[in-house]
Amino acid sequence: MEDMSKATSEFAESVAVVTVKKDDKINAMTAAWAVPVSHRPALVVVHIAPQRFTHDIIMETKEFGLSILAEDQMEVSQYAGTLSGRKVDKFEGDVLKAKPSRVIGTPVLEGCAATMECKLEKAIAMGDHTIFVGRVVSMEKDPEKKPLLLHRGVYYKLGDSVGKYY
Ligand SMILES: Cc1cc2nc3c(=O)[nH]c(=O)nc-3n(C[C@H](O)[C@H](O)[C@H](O)COP(=O)(O)O)c2cc1C
Repeated sequence: MEDMSKATSEFAESVAVVTVKKDDKINAMTAAWAVPVSHRPALVVVHIAPQRFTHDIIMETKEFGLSILAEDQMEVSQYAGTLSGRKVDKFEGDVLKAKPSRVIGTPVLEGCAATMECKLEKAIAMGDHTIFVGRVVSMEKDPEKKPLLLHRGVYYKLGDSVGKYY
């Protein structure tokens, strides 16, 4: 029988890193399943599996940073997305650099295409992930940077424009 779980790889996704902070410890994990849901209020969702170290910290602190990686940050994605904060301090080496947030206590990442500071609105258990709905309380973007993309497990840079939506 066909494996329906493969449907999830058919979407082209930008790659985000979710940051969390509990007491003095900060952690970051890669999440390609992060998308907008509402303009006003500005709401975004990130889908996180319950076994991630990051998961329970968001439940507890009720806030998270969301950093949209730039096309030169594939190493950041692989690093934050293959190690667990349960075992290592991902901010100890040179790969991840934290940047203080303006509104929330949790930092975001340096060098990204955009960063958002989110306060948790709702957590909804759904299938094998939890949907975390965050209200964006502050954001910054670097107009010079383009996002890193992911499709069928392969990273890409944004290609040529083929037309305008607005
Ligand atoms: C490109 C990429 C995308 C990922 N997207 C997600 C995602 O959307 N949701 C999720 O729960 N895990 C995702 N992961 C896996 C987590 O980032 C990974 O399990 C990470 O080590 C969890 O870190 P933590 O235990 O410190 O929270 C992704 C990993 C990579 C490399």
